[in-house]
Amino acid sequence: MGKTVKSVEVRTKDKTYKIFIGDLILHQIIKTRKEISADRFALIVSARIMELYSDNIKEIFRGVKNVEVFKMHDGEKNKIYKYAERFLDDMLKSGFTRRSVVIGIGGGVVGDFAGFIASVYMRGIPIIHIPTTLLAMVDSSIGGKTAVNLSAGKNIAGSFHQPHMVISDVNFIRTLPENELKNGLSEVLKHALIGEEKLLKILDKNDLKSIKISDIIQKIIFLSVLFKSRIVEKDEDEKGIRAILNFGHTVGHAIESMSGYKGISHGEAVAIGLKIETEISRRIGWLDNGEVSYVNELISHYNLINKTNKFNAEKIVEHMKFDKKNIGGKFKFVLLKGLHNPVYNQEVDFKLVMDAVRCINS
Ligand SMILES: NC(=O)c1ccc[n+]([C@@H]2O[C@H](COP(=O)([O-])OP(=O)(O)OC[C@H]3O[C@@H](n4cnc5c(N)ncnc54)[C@H](O)[C@@H]3O)[C@@H](O)[C@H]2O)c1
Repeated sequence: MGKTVKSVEVRTKDKTYKIFIGDLILHQIIKTRKEISADRFALIVSARIMELYSDNIKEIFRGVKNVEVFKMHDGEKNKIYKYAERFLDDMLKSGFTRRSVVIGIGGGVVGDFAGFIASVYMRGIPIIHIPTTLLAMVDSSIGGKTAVNLSAGKNIAGSFHQPHMVISDVNFIRTLPENELKNGLSEVLKHALIGEEKLLKILDKNDLKSIKISDIIQKIIFLSVLFKSRIVEKDEDEKGIRAILNFGHTVGHAIESMSGYKGISHGEAVAIGLKIETEISRRIGWLDNGEVSYVNELISHYNLINKTNKFNAEKIVEHMKFDKKNIGGKFKFVLLKGLHNPVYNQEVDFKLVMDAVRCINS
């Protein structure tokens, strides 16, 4: 067990809440139970987490009468509006009230879904996030964005609903498959490039095996959480600086959408995006060759891109043209004016983008 529990306090317009990061710290939830006056808890738990951790979860809630468990199947196809309506109906039938609390235990899919449920049930009840993937710990559980998918598109229905508390227990990382670990690592690398120098040094010193060591992964999550939280505090509604968190994602989203969200993971698409957007920064003179090589080496070191995956530059650029931010023959990017110095809303010509994509792909 890690010796210390780290915590980050997040101050938003409506509330101040804490994010706890530690090893085997689920009992924090029991403290919360005493601290907030909830009449009932709706535990929305990933089916996979239930398979792996039902004993631990039962242990935590042993003797607690006002808890009802709702198992949720994983996968984007289940993070949908239709199922949200069913969940809300079931909660009403079960007698949940405005004084009830939702607890989401799982990856980003469960977290987004549980957050959405909490944000609309009786006009909003508190949500406690217990993220179980690296991506959910360093990204989706922070910042209050909730979402469900519609048949028209991914994450189309959603809300901003800041959590009451987040408990990131690194013990969950032990069972996380390597491809899921890498999904989270792409976001960690993004945070390291746009913000945290310390984070970049930790990534530099470790590898896919050593970062799983409790103290190391705890530090990585803590620094990522601290960085994202400070950005969210400055721009809760995503009207300004929060846009820097999209570094690597303009191209990443285009690649995912081009592939119909199949055959390429989110983390891999983001890693390719990081590579291309770093190259664009070099081409406009903001990064030097050494900095670009360093970023590329880190991406290879953690094996974030599957080398067999070739992609079509013209198609990526075509997909980016659909993005509503990109108008009038120019794309808008977050670029790096030196490492750890992101600049958002940077206009770049289509041709320069195309050249950068081709260069990475060759
Ligand atoms: N709200 C936000 O700000 C935000 C930000 C980024 C991503 N997201 C959303 O997050 C979702 C992706 O989240 P994700 O990457 O966590 O994927 P996920 O929730 O789909 O989880 C990935 C897989 O890992 C399994 N899993 C989870 N925890 C595990 C554990 N500890 N051990 C073993 N297996 C485990 C799950 O069963 C699942 O199969 C997407 O829907 C995306 O839209 C939201």
